Amino acid sequence: MKHFLTISTLTRAEIQNLMERAFYFKQNGLQLPCYRDHSLALLFYENSTRTRISFELAAKKLSILNVNLDLRQSSENKGEVMQDTINNLAAMGIQLLVIRHSEDNILIKLAEESLPPVRIINAGDGMHEHPSQAILDMMTILEHKSDVSSLKIAVVGDLRHSRVVNSFQHICAKLDVKDLVLVAPSVWQPSHKYYGRVTASLEEGLEAADVVMSLRVQRERFSIEESLDLRTYRRDYAITANRLSTAKKDVMVLHPGPVNRNVEIDDDVVDGPCSRILTQVQNGVFARMAILEAVIQSLN
Ligand code: CP
Repeated sequence: MKHFLTISTLTRAEIQNLMERAFYFKQNGLQLPCYRDHSLALLFYENSTRTRISFELAAKKLSILNVNLDLRQSSENKGEVMQDTINNLAAMGIQLLVIRHSEDNILIKLAEESLPPVRIINAGDGMHEHPSQAILDMMTILEHKSDVSSLKIAVVGDLRHSRVVNSFQHICAKLDVKDLVLVAPSVWQPSHKYYGRVTASLEEGLEAADVVMSLRVQRERFSIEESLDLRTYRRDYAITANRLSTAKKDVMVLHPGPVNRNVEIDDDVVDGPCSRILTQVQNGVFARMAILEAVIQSLN
């Protein structure tokens, strides 16, 4: 794996190796490899809590020298272009760049262009992909449900603007998830369907589901024709304890965060016994350690 840009080009074996390594890191916190000869910069052109901090923690746990470029104070505010930022970081010896950006596919384009000898790790690009999220999501599912090929998984929410659902569709395809149901009102149904079936019926999605993933209503990405009254959305699609009663008894509830509490999902579900939302966050550190290590190994 040269760069880590998308789930779509990974093989099933590569995905399984990343998850196995992430589980190893989770279980062997005191026996960690040391990559102190390697250096990494975090460039977040969009806001983040979970992804940025977990990549930073992952780098620190693996002894990777890491710096966080505060883009509010970077020279891009004086007109420098992103390519020159990268060239300059590479000139200082940075080898790994963890980048989040609002533009779809920008990291793939960067990787295809003549980059200095740096490796790019996608921390979320626009509405395209969030591949490290898919690894930690699937890791969390596998931790509690061993055979994904027998599972019904419902993903519910604003799927049209979601990079999470794109990467998740790809990982479900690679691992042969039995039944992936993508649930959204028509205005928010996914622009790209790679795997699974799409429905506007929440009942159809939740019935006998093993896993329910709620996704955030991404108000910041709506065009006028794509917006929907939030009270109407909540009435018809919010994940509530009552609605979850038609899912399997041991249903697992996920949400990549940030959560709009009491919009797409109720407080008592977020904080309830079926929720594995904070386990996702915990697993994010281990998944990102595995990703950083895989990219470093391709440098050697
Ligand atoms: N899940 C996720 O990407 O969260 P952040 O935006 O906080 O990184």
